[in-house]
Amino acid sequence: MTTLTKESGAPSSADAGAFLSVRDLRVQFKTEDGIVKAVDGLSFDLERGKTLGIVGESGSGKSVTNLTILGLHNQQFATIDGEILLEGQELVTARENELEKLRGNKMAMIFQDPLTALSPYYTVGRQLSEPYMKHTGASKKEARDRAVQMLEKVGIPQPKVRFDDYPHQFSGGMRQRAMIAMALMCDPDLLIADEPTTALDVTVQAQILDLLKDLQQEFGSAIIFITHDLGVISQMADDLLVMYAGRAVERGSVKEVLGDPRHPYTWGLLSSMPRLDSDIQQALTPIPGSPPSLLNPPSGCPFNPRCAFKSEVPGTLCTDARPPLADGRAAACHLTAEQKQTIFIDKIQPRLR
Ligand SMILES: Nc1ncnc2c1ncn2[C@@H]1O[C@H](COP(=O)(O)OP(=O)(O)OP(=O)(O)O)[C@@H](O)[C@H]1O
Ligand SMILES: [Mg+2]
Repeated sequence: MTTLTKESGAPSSADAGAFLSVRDLRVQFKTEDGIVKAVDGLSFDLERGKTLGIVGESGSGKSVTNLTILGLHNQQFATIDGEILLEGQELVTARENELEKLRGNKMAMIFQDPLTALSPYYTVGRQLSEPYMKHTGASKKEARDRAVQMLEKVGIPQPKVRFDDYPHQFSGGMRQRAMIAMALMCDPDLLIADEPTTALDVTVQAQILDLLKDLQQEFGSAIIFITHDLGVISQMADDLLVMYAGRAVERGSVKEVLGDPRHPYTWGLLSSMPRLDSDIQQALTPIPGSPPSLLNPPSGCPFNPRCAFKSEVPGTLCTDARPPLADGRAAACHLTAEQKQTIFIDKIQPRLR
């Protein structure tokens, strides 16, 4: 494997805490219908060299969270509160030019649809090399060499020739690879992959996942990986965050959350999502009801209107009090630890095997 140079790899002496630390993040959008609470008090940490998987139904706030980390939500349209610390540097209050610098050097994103990141009007090579020149001060020749090297690395055949192609001359899988190459041009310390392989066939998907793992090993990047595919999550992620209605409802290592889930929503997700890693055909059970309105979320636990186990919690706790999410391995649910264990073993686990 070719080794690419990386000057910024050494951890700074300032980073006493996690590499990325998100604390009580809230993102709200003002709309004609009212205020959308897209992210509503989210906290998590991520270390270098580790991958955090994020799962949750459509609209649970996964993309908004990550676009906010990258500073892509304009404060004019979104109200952002809380803290996002990248190596101790506060991003919520950072100026746009600082964020832009970080986006070129330290953090990058791979989107589900490469056409959101690649412009149809410029060659792929130009789109890879120009930001690199801008951010690193590299010469045109150096930037071109680097872009060709990255295109080769992501498996684009004849990268020197393909450098001058426009995105429409690439196949869907190649565009996805080109976008990954673009995200990796500056060896990002933080890579956010938002459903990066959903649109690809299984073979290309496997190649790209391998590629991300190789690159992570080489550069020690931290990765946030969003996907609806639990097979991909178990293959890629170290830790897992389950999101519901803009909040984290369960977190732990992938092994803990997938093997011993403790939140009724996670049980619902596991029963409703196909598992490509399983040999056994599993009957899928959709979660009844639909995600809550973020304009007017339910009081108490946001999952309570859909929860099949609400009646096992005494009184009106589920509708009155928002269950907190403790640090570390935790689930935000009013059921007791014993109840969760019994329900999981008796009612949920038999459905998953
Ligand atoms: N600019 C915006 N203005 C108003 N509401 C927004 C805006 N961007 C996102 N939202 C709302 O915020 C909520 C969270 O959206 P988000 O895109 O983060 O969901 P997601 O978890 O990524 O879903 P998916 O799995 O479908 O990608 C949704 O209800 C969405 O409609
Ligand atoms: Mg999304």
